[in-house]
Amino acid sequence: MNDREAFNTREGWRVLGAALRSQKWGLIGGVAIGLAWTVGKVAVPQLTKLGIDRGIEGDGSLWLWSGLVVAAAVIAGLFTAMRRWVAFRESRLIETRIRESIFAHLLKLHVGYHDRTSTGQLMSRASSDLQQVQAFVVMIPLTLSNFAMIGAVIVLLVTSQPLLAVVALAPLPFVNVLANRFSRRIHPAVLAVQAEQAQLASVVEETVSGVRVIKGFGAERVQAEKLRVEADDIQRVSLEAAKLRSRFLPAIDLLPSIGLIAVLGMGGHRVINGDMTVGDLVKFNAYITMLIWPLRNIGMTVAMAQRSAVALMRVNEVLSTPSAVTDPSVPKALPTGDRVGALEFDHVRFGYEGSEPVLDDFSISIPAGHAVALVGGTGSGKSTVVRLLTRFHDVADGAIRIDGVDVRDLTLQELRSSVGIVFEDTFLFNDTVRANIAFARPDASEHLVESAARLAGAHDFILRLPEGYDTVLGERGYSLSGGQRQRVAIARAIVSNPRILVLDDATSAVDPSKEHEIREAMATVMSGRTTIVIAHRPGTIALADTVVLLDQGRAAAVGTHEELLATNTRYRQVLAAWAVRDDDGDDDSPAPSTEANRDAVTGEVVRSRAVTKSDEGLV
Ligand SMILES: Nc1ncnc2c1ncn2[C@@H]1O[C@H](COP(=O)(O)OP(=O)(O)OP(=O)(O)O)[C@@H](O)[C@H]1O
Ligand SMILES: [Mg+2]
Repeated sequence: MNDREAFNTREGWRVLGAALRSQKWGLIGGVAIGLAWTVGKVAVPQLTKLGIDRGIEGDGSLWLWSGLVVAAAVIAGLFTAMRRWVAFRESRLIETRIRESIFAHLLKLHVGYHDRTSTGQLMSRASSDLQQVQAFVVMIPLTLSNFAMIGAVIVLLVTSQPLLAVVALAPLPFVNVLANRFSRRIHPAVLAVQAEQAQLASVVEETVSGVRVIKGFGAERVQAEKLRVEADDIQRVSLEAAKLRSRFLPAIDLLPSIGLIAVLGMGGHRVINGDMTVGDLVKFNAYITMLIWPLRNIGMTVAMAQRSAVALMRVNEVLSTPSAVTDPSVPKALPTGDRVGALEFDHVRFGYEGSEPVLDDFSISIPAGHAVALVGGTGSGKSTVVRLLTRFHDVADGAIRIDGVDVRDLTLQELRSSVGIVFEDTFLFNDTVRANIAFARPDASEHLVESAARLAGAHDFILRLPEGYDTVLGERGYSLSGGQRQRVAIARAIVSNPRILVLDDATSAVDPSKEHEIREAMATVMSGRTTIVIAHRPGTIALADTVVLLDQGRAAAVGTHEELLATNTRYRQVLAAWAVRDDDGDDDSPAPSTEANRDAVTGEVVRSRAVTKSDEGLV
């Protein structure tokens, strides 16, 4: 275990400790019930002995003793049920608490973290790892009462027949030694199983969410093979763990039974010699049998504690990751007024972790109510500009200001509610059209939702859906066409009337011949509102007052579309490259000829849009 893991394990126990403390009274109640259970359980053999020794042999009180045995057994039975119920209730509550804190933390973590971390890994942390923790927590009150029972039994045995007790109980320490060794050996095996399970979850998650790409490329077999490899790995490491279990657990089980043999052999002789009553022999026998399960149980709990330590370590890896983007300690408020929404990128520099800078000295200033078209080649950093504006990432240098206030001085809530974004890959939720549009404002009135849809040019087609605004969109909204999805996304972005609107390639999924329809919608929602429209088709670019050419990380040229077209070679090249891509994408025939695919200006072979865009949107 390296330092980082040791730290995480320690912190993991701290997380569990805090959760346990929050359930303190429930746990104390569980332990109290467990103690009552112990009394009932331990009383039965003792009463049986008295029944045999006194009831059978002498004073004829057999019925009385039998009645008492039944009463003790009923009490023990009732408390057995109660202690299980309380233990499970508490452990489920704790599991829920930790799960809620993982979920809350995941939502708080910066986007960069989610870019790097696989969904399957996170899902396995919130499910199978937490189950391990729950399985251990449920054992805590149970184990405490098991300890109490073992203690009580040992005292009773030693006080009645010291020598026989010592012989019968002698194998117990070995159970402990074995359980300990077992848990040490099983630890790495369990770790491996958990890691493999998380990997399998990743493959399953990717296969399900990327099923359209997989089918589109006929790659079912590739994916099935990936799954087979992962499943085989799980089987292999699980079998190793099972082998360890099958080697140790029988021995752990068997050892206490040796005590039973001692009781029969030695105790039997004592009874024959008259040194011990038959009742005592039966009592010893019952007690030793009673110890087998709790002892084994403690052995299991030791292993479970190990497993839950590993699980808590992994959970804590998530919980202890700080969010790189947080609210300022003293937030400022955006100025209010009639003409708001001025936006300024001031010498912004930014690069993704471990790669070359994407933006370097990027400066533009957009007056309130103005629309700017951001134009640049693919991968030039246009979407990055948007991610910085909403603080999905923070700038490395320079500043972004809305109405003169640095975005880092605003609360994330205020910042993100003042910027409405239509992302380049539209993601809709598996919910009604209405809920999707009102996503940022669940309390939005019907009227507001409808007027947003009207503005976005979505109202008409929504009314034609089977249940209008109440139609449930399938997974990610795939039951709509690309253009329809984008219109719903535009409506979603404008429902909260943001001061700044960003349309990241909002017409990319729309056929150029139909683009004018959505363009009208865009023109309506843009009017009077500060807008950044990322675009590459002249018709859409024309919606903006000014065009900014993003090239080599900076605003390489600023002007109107006509000006740039007339004066800037690079601008013409970028548009020409996009035009070629568009031609490919709109052509429904399979692989377009290499000639048609050749970039008009640079002569480079460009991948067809059908591949690049659907890859982005679906994976
Ligand atoms: N999460 C990320 N981690 C690392 N690098 C990234 C990440 N996102 C984007 N990049 C890189 O940053 C550069 C700019 O990406 P960006 O998405 O801003 O391009 P773009 O101009 O929007 O392109 P397109 O027109 O194709 O959407 C690219 O080289 C890309 O590979
Ligand atoms: Mg982009």
